[in-house]
Amino acid sequence: AHPHFSQNENFALVQNGIVENYQELRGKLKTKGYSFHTETDTEVIVRLIEENLKQTHNLKEAITKSFNELKGRNAIVVINKENKTIYAARNGSPLMLGIGDNDFILASDPSPLLKHTKQIIFLDDHELVTLGDNYQIHNLTTNQQIQKEVQTLTWDVEQAQKGNYEHFMLKEIMEQKHTLAQAIIQDPELIKNIAKEINLAFGVYAVGCGTAGKVCLAGTYAFSEIAKKHINFAFGSEFPNFHHFIQSRSLLLVVSQSGETADTLEAMQTVQEKNGKVVSLVNVMGSTIMRKSDYSLLINAGPEIAVASTKATTSQLALTILLAYACAGRYEDGLALLKQTAQEVTLMLNNQLQENLKKLAQQIKDRNDLYIIGRGANYPMALEAAIKIQEVSYIHAEGFAGGELKHGPIALIEQGTPCLALIANDETKQDMLSNTIEIKSRGAYIIGVSPENNEVFDYWIKVPDVGIA
Ligand code: BG6
Repeated sequence: AHPHFSQNENFALVQNGIVENYQELRGKLKTKGYSFHTETDTEVIVRLIEENLKQTHNLKEAITKSFNELKGRNAIVVINKENKTIYAARNGSPLMLGIGDNDFILASDPSPLLKHTKQIIFLDDHELVTLGDNYQIHNLTTNQQIQKEVQTLTWDVEQAQKGNYEHFMLKEIMEQKHTLAQAIIQDPELIKNIAKEINLAFGVYAVGCGTAGKVCLAGTYAFSEIAKKHINFAFGSEFPNFHHFIQSRSLLLVVSQSGETADTLEAMQTVQEKNGKVVSLVNVMGSTIMRKSDYSLLINAGPEIAVASTKATTSQLALTILLAYACAGRYEDGLALLKQTAQEVTLMLNNQLQENLKKLAQQIKDRNDLYIIGRGANYPMALEAAIKIQEVSYIHAEGFAGGELKHGPIALIEQGTPCLALIANDETKQDMLSNTIEIKSRGAYIIGVSPENNEVFDYWIKVPDVGIA
């Protein structure tokens, strides 16, 4: 649906975001005689710029005025046909400028820029960049010109290419052979300092969105078991509801691959407004979340291009676990355990596994529903597995805590319904096996994901067991 053109086709606009007050703006513009060809909020921005242009007679000023009237989280790019100038503005949605040898490129994520340049400026909210022969950045509120630091990406171009893989997600899954080991290469002093802050804080909240949110929930189990420490969990979009409990001694542990997720940024703002501290685990160097954090750790996973997060997730988990060990004063034990885990994962990700999983997928691909159960830290993993299957396979999938399935959802199990049982070799094992038997007795086809086989499994996916240090 993009770009949208002005009526005289003198400028065109693309948008990333949602204009929350678009109906109100559209109503006002209609009374001024504007007609609309679409139902989109994007077209409203274009007409608003046209209207403001009547007063300012200057496109840049009209864009500034219009953008400041928008509510919601938005980034826009406008190209002017006459002088070939490009304007781009940000408020809430990510926007970055790649600086090439002979060109400039705007994007919402660094990955597509890599092929062209490693020199990047991350735009902040309320900033407008003007691109002609050169670039200029202005603050949208004060109109002051701003000098911004140019960051150099450490990623390689090859990392952002598919190579021989069929698609990026598969490539990124296989990259876990290296990414886990890279995630734990950190400055020990920094980790120990962060652990000190976490231990001193009065109320720790782990916050992320989507997959990163599941990592945060898994983190609550890791901190409980390893550091005997209670940390709270909330998805980014839900966190502001807990602002009543936030104070200057609160600490937010933020997890985000991109470092740009708006709901996560809003959660940070909630804490920072009350002078609380923010520790973040991010993948994109120089990203907004990284820059706005008091402490930040890079997960070193390289560019993650597939929308469904894979390698970044396991790297985030590894670092969360390392932090939990550091909080328990056992950083070295945690590091040794994670190094061993990285080796085991490397061995696990072999061709045979891929072939076996392909066959299994053929068997279950035509089913309408799929359920996943797990207990303890495998409960968030069950939730995570479900969103991954939904997002990639378009199969209805749901994750449940092993003990919760019997309280209702078990009614949905039919003859042959595929159910994944995530069974760890720990104190949850026996209960998980009982839950698995319950659903098998309802006719479920049990896919056990476990270090050991069990007669209740119809299919077994073997995973390594490194235990706990
Ligand atoms: C979603 C992606 O849109 O954003 C998920 O589909 C991701 O894969 C989530 O986990 C949060 O993103 P980020 O960059 O904050 O980890």
